[in-house]
Amino acid sequence: MSFTRILGLGVLAGVATLGYAATEARAYTLRRVELPILPAGQRSLRVLHLSDIHMTPDQSRKQDWVRRLAALQPDLVINTGDNLAHRDAVPVVLSTLEPLLEAPGVYVFGSNDYFEPAPRNPFRYLMPDDGTRAVDSPQLPWKDLQRGFEEAGWTGLTNTTGSLTIGDTALAFAGVDDPHLSYDDLPAVSGPAPAGADVRLAVAHAPYLRVLDQFAADGYDAIIAGHTHGGQVCLPFKGALTTNCDLDNARAKGLHRHPAESAPDDPGSAWLHVSAGVGTNPYTRIRFACRPEATLLTLTCREN
Ligand SMILES: [Fe+2]
Repeated sequence: MSFTRILGLGVLAGVATLGYAATEARAYTLRRVELPILPAGQRSLRVLHLSDIHMTPDQSRKQDWVRRLAALQPDLVINTGDNLAHRDAVPVVLSTLEPLLEAPGVYVFGSNDYFEPAPRNPFRYLMPDDGTRAVDSPQLPWKDLQRGFEEAGWTGLTNTTGSLTIGDTALAFAGVDDPHLSYDDLPAVSGPAPAGADVRLAVAHAPYLRVLDQFAADGYDAIIAGHTHGGQVCLPFKGALTTNCDLDNARAKGLHRHPAESAPDDPGSAWLHVSAGVGTNPYTRIRFACRPEATLLTLTCREN
């Protein structure tokens, strides 16, 4: 086979792969996960975990899909940030989430709520982190988003704690501002998780190990995070090549333990749920072997 023909086939394969990856980025998927952290005898709770929506005003298909998630009738929504990807996205996000804002909710923000997205080399994600962050980009109107969430009654967990009672279940929360920007103030929220609560949940945008270590050691039952996009461009049968933070690739998405090797009854360990997220940076609207997702976490009773 001639070199020109091989080159032509290579280009064709590349274009086909990119075309597929652009399609997969819109193949929105609901994942269902059982999380056994309730005390014995309590009614199960339906928790919708949303993350990394990265909304732009033109994404009507994404808006329709997210809006329809309200049909799940969650008892609680946990939003782990990166809602925005455009300076005009706040009203779109609020109208998309409107039916979900009627449910109790908690939230933290991520770097993409604070700063406008910028084009970046997609291969940079695969390189070692050089510590640069796009904090010189123009700020997004995240305070308007915050106001919308607060007016709906959602509880902000930015470097603070909170509590909710849903049915007969008393939930205690702690959260941090985005660890990817080093905005997390762990001393402000660290300390033993409230012993009187039925369930203790910790929330962060980016699952950096220092944050996971602290919340697990403090006795939180589960830590809920996003940011990784599940690796976004993954290898079939192998998985993520990066988490865009210091979490190992094997836990780029889904339900795991923290520390990774711990068992559910280990003291000083927690469940860790990482969402692969609904969206992508608007300049890299591709996913491969890693569908965009939201997760319905069903909290069930502990097995012991
Ligand atoms: Fe994100």
